[in-house]
Amino acid sequence: MSNHVETTLDGGILTLRINRPDKKNALTPAMYTALVEGLRRSDQDPGIRVVLISGGGDNFTSGNDLADFMGSPPTGEDSPVMQFLWAVSSAKKPLVAGVNGVAVGVGTTMLLHCDLVVAAEDARFQLPFVNLGLCAEAGSTLMMPQMMGYQRAAELLLLGEMFSAEQARQYGLVNRVVAAGEVQETARTLAQKLAAQPARAVQLTKQLMKQPNATAVRAVIAEEGMQFAQLLRGPEAREAFTAFMERRVPDFSAI
Ligand code: COA
Repeated sequence: MSNHVETTLDGGILTLRINRPDKKNALTPAMYTALVEGLRRSDQDPGIRVVLISGGGDNFTSGNDLADFMGSPPTGEDSPVMQFLWAVSSAKKPLVAGVNGVAVGVGTTMLLHCDLVVAAEDARFQLPFVNLGLCAEAGSTLMMPQMMGYQRAAELLLLGEMFSAEQARQYGLVNRVVAAGEVQETARTLAQKLAAQPARAVQLTKQLMKQPNATAVRAVIAEEGMQFAQLLRGPEAREAFTAFMERRVPDFSAI
């Protein structure tokens, strides 16, 4: 278990709070493992009716820890990050996310698998996979074009620029945009409403909505994961990651 993910159960709501503020809640393998344990527990425990995912401090998460990506890149389907993607994409209970600050990389793609997403009006989203010499993950290359249309998805994934909570709402990624101080309360209120609904009907309805796409999503997550792992060891990623650590602009012109 990681002490950078706080897990609490209250009123049928399992809260998973990503909490590593000094690194903008960047996710390490131990943190993914803690999230996986929470999600698996929620699948199995009938007392858990809703999972609420949030970020401690001022941010949701800045995505995968870049130093970990460089130092110990994930290998294969058993890696903690892949286990997380399997768990979040197949969760039986409804997932609610409260997003404040930055939601970068997997911080944004995990939202594709959530059922209700609340964001602060000043929250910032980014999918910088290509900027890092990587391909997108978590089923996003399938789910984003489906959700928002190809050109919108292409812009977000190929240019990898920050986008706002309002844009995320217009594109269908976010349900509600609220004042920064109201994110956690609004997300909790929605989680409480869901927890008060008849659990079997909620879970079956979620399953029926996910089912038609489930096999394709699984296949795409696997394909993206395989390509991602190869790119992670390539020259473009090396240049991008080194540039981040050296706080300079990467130069891909000679690669
Ligand atoms: N992995 C590791 N460390 C990270 C991190 C990440 N994903 N995101 C932020 N940090 C660290 C920074 O290195 C810095 O550490 P330091 O204080 O020891 O130098 C600290 O968190 C604060 O980050 P900083 O970059 O100074 O904050 P900012 O407000 O200027 O920018 C971000 C915030 C999120 C825009 C920026 O940190 C960023 O782009 N991070 C990388 C995001 C990313 O590419 N994630 C992976 C996607 S696959």
